[in-house]
Amino acid sequence: MNKLIFKRFFSIHSVKRPIVLGIETSCDDTAIAIVSADKKVLNSKVFVNRIDQQRIGGISPALSAMQHRMFIDNLIEDCLDEISCRLADLDAIAVTSCPGLVICLKVGLERAISLSRISKVPLIQVHHMRAHALSSRLIDDSVEYPFLSLLISGGHCLLVLVKNPSEFDIIGIDSTTSPGECLDKVAREIGLKSKDRHLGAEVERLARLSDDDGCLRFSIKPPSTSGADFHFASIKNSFLNLIQQGKLDKLSQKDTVDLCASLQFQVTSHLCRKLHLAFEYLQSKDILQSQSKTLVLSGGVAANKFIFKAIEKLTNFYNYKLIVPPGRLCTDNAEMIAWTGIEMMEENPNVAIPWTSLPSSIYAHDRYPIGTSILRDEIHASKFKPTRKLKLQSLLQDQIYFTGKPLQ
Ligand code: KG4
Ligand code: ZN
Repeated sequence: MNKLIFKRFFSIHSVKRPIVLGIETSCDDTAIAIVSADKKVLNSKVFVNRIDQQRIGGISPALSAMQHRMFIDNLIEDCLDEISCRLADLDAIAVTSCPGLVICLKVGLERAISLSRISKVPLIQVHHMRAHALSSRLIDDSVEYPFLSLLISGGHCLLVLVKNPSEFDIIGIDSTTSPGECLDKVAREIGLKSKDRHLGAEVERLARLSDDDGCLRFSIKPPSTSGADFHFASIKNSFLNLIQQGKLDKLSQKDTVDLCASLQFQVTSHLCRKLHLAFEYLQSKDILQSQSKTLVLSGGVAANKFIFKAIEKLTNFYNYKLIVPPGRLCTDNAEMIAWTGIEMMEENPNVAIPWTSLPSSIYAHDRYPIGTSILRDEIHASKFKPTRKLKLQSLLQDQIYFTGKPLQ
């Protein structure tokens, strides 16, 4: 695994081109990074104000867009100046254009267009969720196409087959909400607060204080969806109902930690059940079976160690190598945007829009499919069900086990 090595060790003259500046403003992080084709992060800057977002009870698009407008120019200037890089030294500017909060995306896109014109370098539009999946290749040379990726963030839950930098096929998706939003909403409902970290991370911290079986104390009806699709709204609503129906009126410290552990366990179980179905389906169709199999776990929720350990048991069982980028690359960052720009450009130079052909504005999309939905449609059409059932409680033990017979 490559270590991310920063500007103190590299100058723009000693790295492999292309050198790309990445801009990420799809949500509440204002992030800038400069990355080279030989996977060197030359510099990166992030600004985020979680304290104000926590105080108002969630992410405000208007407040985030204002933050992007206030800080983006200085962050770009510092990022370039600190490594003595001029705009004209860049080979391209990569910017997130979808999916995300439209007024936030617009700030990044406007800056990218004007920088591209000033510096006369091309512009590349990057899909935020594709970048989460590809960030694994920035830190690990062993991740080769095709690979599977489970993207679990505050905005999305997607299980995809990644064929190349711009070809993705959906296996399972959550069309209701995401594991991050489910954790954040329930955490807010029970009054959790954190100055400098995500509420999901606070749930994880408190869950660790619970007894071994605390995670089984608050049980809910597990979501029922077809195929490998997810339904985190169901888990969120079940927990909100438990809390709001007065059953958990005054939470003691033990109630709080057990509730966090139970919520985390239900989120993990749902992810593992669907992953299990997908692994069995791919095996039954002989997809990915001939090469070394890799599952990349990314997005903010992938920073959760409990979820990681449970998924690791499944990947070990099905012989997949499990790769999780380090924490700061799992949450929103601009390194992944710059790197995805490099991969896209190397695969097809035409994706880079020459500065002379740039339109006056580029459309920002709040939702945009990550790719095709061929495998997902096949799974739905065949009504595929695994023959053996994963025993969810075994996710808490050293070894997972199943009931029923394995596929032949
Ligand atoms: O990928 P990300 O930074 O932003 C989006 O694109 O959504 O993900 C943020 C989400 C939040 O919902 C946050 O609560 C969750 O990731 N998160 C975690 C952890 N760290 C961040 N969830 C569970 N455990 C964590 N350690
Ligand atoms: Zn994200």
